[in-house]
Amino acid sequence: MKTVAVANQKGGVGKTTCCVNLAAELGRQGKKVLVLDIDPQGNSTSGLGVDVSNVNNSMYHVILDEVSPTSAIIPSAWEGVWVLPATLDLAGSEVELAGVMSRETRLARHMGAMKDFDIGFIDCPPSLGLLTVNALVAADSLLVPIQCEYYALEGVGQLMRTISLVQRYLNENLNLDGVVLTMYDVRTNLSKEVADEVRNQFREAVFDTLIPRNVRLSEAPSHGKPICYYDPESAGAGAFRNLAREVQQRWLAQER
Ligand SMILES: Nc1ncnc2c1ncn2[C@@H]1O[C@H](COP(=O)(O)OP(=O)(O)O)[C@@H](O)[C@H]1O
Ligand SMILES: [Mg+2]
Repeated sequence: MKTVAVANQKGGVGKTTCCVNLAAELGRQGKKVLVLDIDPQGNSTSGLGVDVSNVNNSMYHVILDEVSPTSAIIPSAWEGVWVLPATLDLAGSEVELAGVMSRETRLARHMGAMKDFDIGFIDCPPSLGLLTVNALVAADSLLVPIQCEYYALEGVGQLMRTISLVQRYLNENLNLDGVVLTMYDVRTNLSKEVADEVRNQFREAVFDTLIPRNVRLSEAPSHGKPICYYDPESAGAGAFRNLAREVQQRWLAQER
């Protein structure tokens, strides 16, 4: 399974939106996709329409080694998309993990059990704590959403330092080979300036597709639907179709 951690310690930049909508789009195109929710908020779990009150085993139990992923992964209502759900008890796991052996590699050690999926997206919490580190250690690639707003690059240096440390000590196979510009507003110079600056810094890691600011994208989660089912004609759905095509070419072309 090609494993992509979707990370940025800033909240509200579009991590969850990318996970849910890329997964749904790739699933619709015939890929077998897993969304691994490692954010205690569980936004990608609920955004895919999974009712957490019906969840028994979750990421919490997997990361604390109480169950294997196979007994926690559930199908979503959407074609080709499965979920390793997160529930609020995951919030306590950062503290519980602090004192255990191999606390940074808890998720990575389970990845073999998920190898039947074509691609997995790990939806990270807005912090650089142990949960995000577990995601970075389990991943091959990193997708960093950057919001086209003031202070867009604030904190990116800290994220880069964390990535280097993980690469050096825990996962030399981690690549920062995906950056996506989100909430792009064609009417503002600011969006264009941020996009130029990000392309200067990250070069070919940046996907060509810009995710526009789009009301339909912000409405979809409350209906528990990915954008391609909520409003396939919207600009947001079109953008995620394009981004999924790029993801497929970049990350799934060699695999079969
Ligand atoms: N392109 C977009 N256009 C409009 N609203 C968006 C867009 N991307 C995300 N949102 C909304 O912004 C909020 C934060 O996005 P989210 O994906 O949850 O960020 P994160 O997971 O990084 O915290 C959510 O309410 C989401 O619905
Ligand atoms: Mg989120």
